[in-house]
Amino acid sequence: MKIVVVGTGYVGLPHGAICSEYGHTVYAYDINQERIDAYNSGDRQQIEQQINEPGLVPIIQEQLNRNLFFTTDISDVIEGTEVIFMCLNTPPRRDGSTDLTYYTNAANHIAELLAARKEQTRVVLVNKSTVPVGTARYLEGILKQHGVENAGVASNPEFLAQGKAVEGSRSPDRVVVGADTEEDLGILRKLYAAYVNHVRIRYIETTPETAECIKYLGNTLLLTYISFWNGIGARMAESHDNIRMEDLKVGVTADSRISTWGSYVSNGAGGSCFGKDIQSLIYQLKSSGNQAHLLEAVFDINEYQKTYLFDRAGYEAGFNFNNKSVALLGLAFKKRTNDMRDSASLKAVQALLAKGVKEIRAYDPLAMHEATRYFDPEDNHLYDRIVYCESERDALQGSDACYLSTDWEEFRTLSADIRASVDAPYLIIDGRRMLPDYMALVQDGYDYLPVGGQFLSINETKAYKPKNPLPKTSSLIGR
Ligand code: UGA
Repeated sequence: MKIVVVGTGYVGLPHGAICSEYGHTVYAYDINQERIDAYNSGDRQQIEQQINEPGLVPIIQEQLNRNLFFTTDISDVIEGTEVIFMCLNTPPRRDGSTDLTYYTNAANHIAELLAARKEQTRVVLVNKSTVPVGTARYLEGILKQHGVENAGVASNPEFLAQGKAVEGSRSPDRVVVGADTEEDLGILRKLYAAYVNHVRIRYIETTPETAECIKYLGNTLLLTYISFWNGIGARMAESHDNIRMEDLKVGVTADSRISTWGSYVSNGAGGSCFGKDIQSLIYQLKSSGNQAHLLEAVFDINEYQKTYLFDRAGYEAGFNFNNKSVALLGLAFKKRTNDMRDSASLKAVQALLAKGVKEIRAYDPLAMHEATRYFDPEDNHLYDRIVYCESERDALQGSDACYLSTDWEEFRTLSADIRASVDAPYLIIDGRRMLPDYMALVQDGYDYLPVGGQFLSINETKAYKPKNPLPKTSSLIGR
């Protein structure tokens, strides 16, 4: 089938590449010339600087100019196209609602092109990126305004997790397709022939609105799991002697009805989706006259989690960040990606600078280049205090404390780097509970402050523990 993918970011690029691998002819369109040039170069480094997804580059290199074409102009290719995937970024506004400006501009442009077609092949416009319930209907309105004939709309949300896009596309848990007519459902069935009637993949056909809603409920339920563990499990283990976080997790999730996913306590979930989607769902609920207390609490807990360890370092470990050097280990929002959108490290940098550190020695296996875009000294002169380091050991050199922010596998062996680079006493703040041998470090005089556990030290510290250290958070309540 001939298909067009509009927007070549984290959703559009892997999706377009996988569709080309399944034998469809894919025209991937973006208004960003630099991005399109990078993809057209076929060069690994250039592509990965745009989007870094394991396994993606070989597919692009193999399919480029065979089944996969990148362009900034789709006016010539729209003729005969059966499916157009809308994969545009839909950023959140301050009030949590979704900004559909890029989406609307692209939809109007495409509707104009579709209205001017010579042959009126049936075409389905499919929302792939996460958009509020009702957006497929809104798209239908745009098509009508432009007098487009023989076109339908559908919702086919993307459920892939970053870092697993290729693996996940080849073997998804489910494919959800929401469309109004049997004809349009049939076109998408043809496109997804590899998944329909698959023994393991659930191929779900429903209405566009249901499909849109499935995506929001799925993502916010996942974040609810994470906030449950961060806001309740971790808090209990931090507040009581002798609660072992790992045992707690195993014991609770041994119930087959309870997910193990989400039980990895952390310095808050980041990424482009969870924060944005939950704020959007809160907005959608409230705009239809409902309360959203549960989701507001989930959101607040997640945001609180991103910096609370620095406060604990003060009141539990007696550590004063002023004029100190801190190694920041991990910048990406999770392992195996260079994506820093909504990453805990962004808030960590702000918190550390606000506490007056003299330098932040940052290291990430993949996101170093990306970080320079976020911390431009021209935006804030304090970003001069960030030193970009070449390895964990380089970051630890001369530091007074380290903060482990991203769950990179290589950080599991950080203890050896710490022993080789810095002498005890030294404060290790572990936002991911990644150090399996932390007890040995503590016995050797290092101070250990983890998420989901009490502060451990054999040294005398100026610590004090306030009775109720947790401030009330209410960033969204009352909006
Ligand atoms: C998420 C969902 O998992 C996907 O199903 C969804 O399709 C996607 O959003 C989307 O809407 O596009 P993603 O943002 O790539 O995928 O990342 P996740 O693997 O879900 O991780 C999100 C954050 O939660 C990361 O910062 C991760 O480190 C953190 N996390 C995850 C925890 O803190 N604890 C956990 O137990 C699991």
